[in-house]
Amino acid sequence: MTVNDSQLHIVTAGLPAAPLLAELHEACFDAPWDVKAMSDLLSMPGTSAFVIGPAKDIPAGFVIANCAADQADILTIGVLPDHRRSHLASRLLYFLADQLRSLGVDEVYLEVAAENGPAINLYKSCGYIEVGRRDNYYAANRSDRTAVQMKCDLNLSPASP
Ligand SMILES: CC(C)(COP(=O)(O)OP(=O)(O)OC[C@H]1O[C@@H](n2cnc3c(N)ncnc32)[C@H](O)[C@@H]1OP(=O)(O)O)[C@@H](O)C(=O)NCCC(=O)NCCS
Repeated sequence: MTVNDSQLHIVTAGLPAAPLLAELHEACFDAPWDVKAMSDLLSMPGTSAFVIGPAKDIPAGFVIANCAADQADILTIGVLPDHRRSHLASRLLYFLADQLRSLGVDEVYLEVAAENGPAINLYKSCGYIEVGRRDNYYAANRSDRTAVQMKCDLNLSPASP
């Protein structure tokens, strides 16, 4: 699937996009991501992935989610540093919400590091609310180990701008 909403391109990213998604993930999180691990993630039943960019051949951000019945989880989302604050991530979240609604999903969940202010602000701006916290959620070598659990009720969330 390809969507072109005047200035942005969003494409569905299947298994052949595993190397691109691994590259984007590494650049967004500044941490290596194995292509095999990405392939395994994309092969999981219920997984959807989308890539966004200012043009079809300029991938700049991505989101990966997994859904089961009427619930979904956002597994990861990122936008390349040079493309941040251009509403790519929020556009992706609204697009993902539309896709998940069409699959019968009512609620979307995610975990985000409590110190990740930009991501928490992003999620709040797209209708997510905090529903809990989990201490020691992230690896022991990280300084920010607490995760904020957030949820979006797709029946109440704001429509795409
Ligand atoms: C978090 C991230 C995905 C946001 O992507 P983005 O495309 O820059 O976000 P958007 O432009 O769509 O921002 C939408 C809103 O989120 C909030 N926001 C985004 N980045 C922010 C920042 N650095 N500081 C404060 N608020 C921020 C703002 O409310 C913003 O709206 P505004 O620009 O009108 O004020 C991006 O910073 C990123 O890839 N970070 C590294 C990876 C990461 O942390 N992913 C999330 C893991 S849970």
